[in-house]
Amino acid sequence: MRIDRRRFLRTMAILGAIFAYATIVLGGTVRGMGAGLACPDWPLCNGSLVPSVGDAGVLVEYVHRLVAVLTGLFVLFTLLAAILWFRSEMGLVTLSIVSFAVLATQVGVGWVTITTENDPAIVTLHLALGTATLAAALIVAMVSLWPPSAASVALDR
Ligand code: HEM
Repeated sequence: MRIDRRRFLRTMAILGAIFAYATIVLGGTVRGMGAGLACPDWPLCNGSLVPSVGDAGVLVEYVHRLVAVLTGLFVLFTLLAAILWFRSEMGLVTLSIVSFAVLATQVGVGWVTITTENDPAIVTLHLALGTATLAAALIVAMVSLWPPSAASVALDR
């Protein structure tokens, strides 16, 4: 079975943008509920990969992390597809690298929000980078939807 590479790229890129948006909404919910330390450790939550989520704070913080992981996977698959199959589209490849770099930094800062017990400066940086994560993923999704030039299609064949 041969997969439609462009369709795969577009699907991953669009899902990356949608999930980045969802992660931001969930992050705001975590903040609003004062649940920033409901999982005081990372990558585990209360010492477990799948914690007991009876507490609403733990649930929302855990789902924020899970959706962030899915966002990361979609952004990573977009980057891999761009590098493996669409190397001639330099704009797309460069933007995918930037998008992944912003997201990886954001995950690192998410971790630091925990180790610093929600230091306001770090949480502000996390909010700022969250917006940048969405912006970058959205730009990649839009660029992936542009029709490729005939020259780049021939080069990537
Ligand atoms: C795609 C990745 C991520 C995005 C886009 C994102 C986005 C956000 C946003 C927008 C907020 C709300 C900030 C505010 O209202 O001031 C937030 C809160 C938070 N995020 Fe993330 N986040 C991501 C990944 C992570 C990860 C991996 C962790 C944990 C390791 C994490 C931990 C937190 C915590 C603890 C808060 C609450 C901070 C507080 O209550 O003061 N985030 N996130």
